[in-house]
Amino acid sequence: LSKFTNPFIFINFKAYKEVEGAGALEIAKACEEVADSNGVSIIVCPPVVELSHVSKNVDIPVFAQSVSPKASGACTGWVTPSMVKVTGAMGTLISHSENKYELETVMECVDLTRSEGLKSVVCVENLSSAIEYSSFNPDFIAIEPPELIGGDISVTTANPKIVSNTVEGVKRINKDIFVLCGAGVKTGEDVREAMSLGAEGVLLASGVVKSKDPKGALLDLIKYV
Ligand code: G3P
Repeated sequence: LSKFTNPFIFINFKAYKEVEGAGALEIAKACEEVADSNGVSIIVCPPVVELSHVSKNVDIPVFAQSVSPKASGACTGWVTPSMVKVTGAMGTLISHSENKYELETVMECVDLTRSEGLKSVVCVENLSSAIEYSSFNPDFIAIEPPELIGGDISVTTANPKIVSNTVEGVKRINKDIFVLCGAGVKTGEDVREAMSLGAEGVLLASGVVKSKDPKGALLDLIKYV
């Protein structure tokens, strides 16, 4: 497996048309190529129906986009941490703002993923949730102001304070939790700014997935890493 280290560049494929069917592996392959040839850590989050296929065909870390608070058993349609694990995925996002969970459910998901040996990335919309969820000790907290998601202005430009305050608040509770930031991140400058604000990585989607040239977008993103 390629490296999994700071700075972490997480690419969330979401459910964009571009990643339906063969598109998911195509973009994952572009991520693998750029990660390997530049020695950087790129993690892909394909749709759950492509998770197994992508995991088996790339050598970079693969994460699910969401997981259900369920153990294996009679729970039709739910995506258990256990089934995510056997696809070969390394972890999962939890409570993305487009798939948001109640506090109790986030806690259950973090515990279940941990018991499966999976890594967890808990997404939060503000500082108070970042602090609240840090007490669950996920591996990552990702701060993403929802109003900036999918837009053209990076969180690092629009609201740099929310990034630095989240880093400070989370580290005060548990210095081992990695902090990511996301929403509108698209360029190498945005990634550099995220690092200078203390983040240990970024979580982004449209800048790569919706790009006409995903590989070019990735190369730009990592140019200062
Ligand atoms: O999970 C990443 C995300 O919500 C940010 O999306 O398109 O602003 O990079 P985007």
